[in-house]
Amino acid sequence: MNPENELKTWQQKAQAQTELLLAHFLPSESQVPHTLHEAMRYVTLGGGKRLRPLLVLAASELGEANQNAVEQAMAAIEMVHVYSLVHDDMPAMDNDSLRRGKPTCHVQYDEATALLVGDALQTQAFNVLSRPTGLPAERQLAMLSTLAQASGSLGMAGGQAIDLANVGKAMNQAELEQMHSLKTGALIRAAVALGALSCPDLTPAQIQTLDRYAAKLGLAFQVIDDVLDCEADTATLGKTAGKDSDNNKPTYVKLMGLHAARIYAETLIAEAVALIEPFGDKALRLRQLAEFVTARKN
Ligand code: IPE
Ligand code: IPE
Ligand code: MG
Ligand code: MG
Ligand code: MG
Repeated sequence: MNPENELKTWQQKAQAQTELLLAHFLPSESQVPHTLHEAMRYVTLGGGKRLRPLLVLAASELGEANQNAVEQAMAAIEMVHVYSLVHDDMPAMDNDSLRRGKPTCHVQYDEATALLVGDALQTQAFNVLSRPTGLPAERQLAMLSTLAQASGSLGMAGGQAIDLANVGKAMNQAELEQMHSLKTGALIRAAVALGALSCPDLTPAQIQTLDRYAAKLGLAFQVIDDVLDCEADTATLGKTAGKDSDNNKPTYVKLMGLHAARIYAETLIAEAVALIEPFGDKALRLRQLAEFVTARKN
């Protein structure tokens, strides 16, 4: 099999595993309140690239992973990510009507439901992550606090606040880097950290190296998100193209232009891949996922 097809096969298998885990860890829509549970499943199941769970899995291949911890982390990080998408699309934020090729949560249901879907997905993520795993307790606590910090005001939510505060304003490269590293990079870093923490044999120094890889990957991911917002069409993206300029958002494309933004992301990815060289063959999936971040079409 050529390397591209080989990666695709692995990705599809891991995406199917993620789907099963999410279906299992989300409350059934037969449970009261039916509509809230239906909406939680509507936004979470059947779509998305599942990059964050795939990163958890890929990082967990570097050591002797506890599989319960890996599976719980895969589901938990995707739940937080999906919650962030549901709120990001709401009228008070980016006001988008299409996500993953379907009407957004507040369009399909209503705004109050979209708020509650976000609230409930976030808390369910921590509920799932706190289930018994067999990992040493301090490792599992480290996983919980990693996801909490990455989601909160010093992570994703903080980045979203900076994003909203800068609509219509120019940002310099350092300011943009901070915003992107928080709103998107923080959860991508957390995904890699969760995979690493589920391996009791990985050392703090190894986990730190992986974090440096993930920080570059997370920033590159949002730079490419900015590029695709300009370059790709709505059908390919599954979300409304051209939304950033419509909403007057500061982006890397606005700062440096399409071409330079793409080159910058490619440079970050090359640096990220170089950082994980010491892990050798075991880091194959992390290397491939990094390359996927710049090669992706949506
Ligand atoms: C979109 O994330 C929002 C950002 C953080 C840039 P993804 O591009 O990973 O979206 P899905 O999960 O594949 O839908
Ligand atoms: C998304 O940034 C960041 C989060 C959802 C946390 P964007 O607003 O650029 O994401 P898209 O383009 O709507 O997916
Ligand atoms: Mg946004
Ligand atoms: Mg948005
Ligand atoms: Mg975007």
